[in-house]
Amino acid sequence: MADSTSRPPDGSAAHPPVSPATSGASADADGASGPEEVPLGGRTPTGDAQTRATTAGRTTIPLLWALREDATVCALLDAADEFVAAQGFTEHGQRHANLVGHIAFNVMTHLGHEDRTAELAAAAGYLHDIGNVITRASHGQTGALLAWQILQRLDVPMADVAHVMAAIGNHEEQHGEAVSPVAAAVIVADKSDVHRSRVRAAASIAEDIHDRVNYAVESSFLRVDPHARTLTLELTIDTSVSQVLEYFEIFLERMIMCRRAAQVLGCDFRITINDTPVL
Ligand SMILES: [Fe+2]
Ligand SMILES: [Fe+2]
Repeated sequence: MADSTSRPPDGSAAHPPVSPATSGASADADGASGPEEVPLGGRTPTGDAQTRATTAGRTTIPLLWALREDATVCALLDAADEFVAAQGFTEHGQRHANLVGHIAFNVMTHLGHEDRTAELAAAAGYLHDIGNVITRASHGQTGALLAWQILQRLDVPMADVAHVMAAIGNHEEQHGEAVSPVAAAVIVADKSDVHRSRVRAAASIAEDIHDRVNYAVESSFLRVDPHARTLTLELTIDTSVSQVLEYFEIFLERMIMCRRAAQVLGCDFRITINDTPVL
C-alpha cells in the first residue's frame, strides 16, 4: 500500500503571518491509522481555498518547530524572500521553507528512516534557501554556513549539524548532489515545489517561462511508495497556460538530480503529468 506525501507547509503563530492560502494536498493510503493533518500556510494569487496535509503521523517535529519560532531564522527567511523577489524569482519564503521541510520529513519517515534523521531532513528543508539573504548565487553554500551558526546556538550536536549543512550545500543542481539520504530528501522535496502559489502577483506569465510553468501547475504531489520503492511527482498542469514541454525545458536538470537523489534513497523517481506517466 502506498504512502504519499506532499505540500504540507504551515503558518506558525510565532512567524510574521504568511498570507492565507494553499498548495496541494496530501493523503495517506493507510487510512484510519494514517498521519494527522496540520494546517497549511502559503500563498496563492488566485485565492484558492486552504488545504491540509500530513506529517506522517506526527503533529510536531521539535527541531523544525524551534526553527520556525526562532526570530533570527524568521527575519533571515523573510529578508531572503524579499531579496529574491527583487531579482524576479518565485516565492522562496516561509511557505516554501515549511513545505520543503515537511516533505523532506515525510519522505524520510515513509521510507523507514529514524525519527532523528527525518527531523534533520526537516530542518535542512526548512533552512535550505536561507542563504538567499546573502546572494542568490551559491546560496546553498552560504546557507549551510548560516545554518551552522543557527543550529549551534540551538545546541544541535555537531554531527547532526554536519548532515544539515551538507544537505543545504548540495540542494542546487549547479553545485550539489545527493551526498546522503538527508540531502536526497531535501533535493526531491525542494524540486517538488512547483506550483502556481509560488508565482508573485507582479509576475509576467507571458514573458517569463519560469513564472509561466509554475503558474500552470495547479497541483503537485510527491507520492512515496515504500513497497514499490518509488517517488512519484504527480503534477496537474493547465496546458492552456504552459505546454508540458516547457516544464522539461526548464526543469530537466532538476529532474535528473531528483532521479539520482531517489537512487540514494533506494527508490526510482517518476513523474506523472495530468495522470500520464512521463518518466
Ligand atoms: Fe535553493
Ligand atoms: Fe528551494
